[in-house]
Amino acid sequence: MPSIPADRSPDSTLAFLRDGYRFVGARCDRYGTDIFQTRLLLERTICLRGRPAAVLFYDNERFVRAGAMPLRAQRTLTGRRGVQGLDGATHRDRKAMLMSIMTPTAVRQIGQLFDDEWRARIPVWERSGPVVLYDELGRMLTRTVCAWAGVPLAGTEVLRRTDELHAMIDGPAALGPRHWRGLLGRRRGEHWAGDLVERARAGTLPAPEGSALRVIADHRDERGRALPRRVAAVELLNVLRPTVAVDRFIVFAALALHDHPAWRQRAGESDEATECFVQEVRRYYPFFPMSAARVRRSFDWQGYHFPRGRRVVLDLYGTNHDHTLWPQPEQFRPERFANWRADPFGLIPQGGGEHLTGHRCAGEWITIELVKRAVINLTTAMRYDVPPQNLALSLRRMPTLPPSGFLITNVRRTA
Ligand code: HEM
Repeated sequence: MPSIPADRSPDSTLAFLRDGYRFVGARCDRYGTDIFQTRLLLERTICLRGRPAAVLFYDNERFVRAGAMPLRAQRTLTGRRGVQGLDGATHRDRKAMLMSIMTPTAVRQIGQLFDDEWRARIPVWERSGPVVLYDELGRMLTRTVCAWAGVPLAGTEVLRRTDELHAMIDGPAALGPRHWRGLLGRRRGEHWAGDLVERARAGTLPAPEGSALRVIADHRDERGRALPRRVAAVELLNVLRPTVAVDRFIVFAALALHDHPAWRQRAGESDEATECFVQEVRRYYPFFPMSAARVRRSFDWQGYHFPRGRRVVLDLYGTNHDHTLWPQPEQFRPERFANWRADPFGLIPQGGGEHLTGHRCAGEWITIELVKRAVINLTTAMRYDVPPQNLALSLRRMPTLPPSGFLITNVRRTA
């Protein structure tokens, strides 16, 4: 049996930080393969890219998530003992709880709340000087998701909570102060969310039926037990934090409208056009570079041996830019999604496979809804200028963002 092509360096962690989103893809291209083996964070790791790899990676019979996520990501981004690291019946139960929040009505509701936030901000932007879209969006999404999730949020708290949620998202792949801010953000965030859960359970905080806070606070696991305070806090943050993270996709959408001005007209013309545009934003722009799992029991795949316990990572960014799946992947072309047959293993910015039984992102529908609402507002509810600024997207910084945060000026309402 051939051995998996191996990256030569003794440990690739620094190369990963240096190459960023292109780490797996560059090596796959170099070795002419979609699979290679290396050491990441001192651990032997098999790296995979492409659709067949995604089909394999999201097979629960072959992989587990327990112990797969690096500790530095758990300490900042995800927290511990949350849905991301669960397997089997425990995962199914926890995931079903989270997915029960994501009904079509609830998805529309969060979209409407965000729309209301946006419409209320336009007159403020009209009167103000330059607006940093990223900063505004973070606060708007924090207010939106808290209102939607049944979480009370005083006006004076918005900035602090937004900063904490941002710090968790920004922390996992960073060294030094960015990482420390992530640790602190998580500590404070879990304390806050834990208090909310306790107050909801005690009846001193009347979280509405069906809201994320109510569902998580009242949940009984497969053995009839309530979630421990800390775990419930992690799951509540699993709803709040990534919803705020949608601000990056919205900044990317604004960037795409700026770089492809023909779409300023087209993107809001019909629901289909908006959808194509948003899907291409999710495919084209980098967010999470990869996802990690461990081999459940040894198996062979495409002539290669995967030993039990080996860590395996799937290149999400590289699969979304794989030329065998996406012709001219480095071009931003929303048209490619017209008549697209939804493929759970092709477009995987938020993971692949099944939402309910697998680890695919619980908030994908919410994400699409929020970015669509944003695109409609950007293209039909307002006009604005984009002054000269640094909009260069670094593929080394994870997660990335234009350094200026996308500055707009001269905002005028049109609707
Ligand atoms: C900014 C947009 C978002 C991106 C790029 C994103 C990306 C991802 C990715 C890559 C995964 C991991 C897939 C895997 O394990 O292989 C994931 C999982 C998850 N996401 Fe998202 N996500 C986003 C928004 C959201 C939103 C809005 C929510 C909730 C409201 C959410 C909740 C979750 C949860 C709970 C999981 C864990 C699912 C599981 O392990 O079963 N995400 N997301």
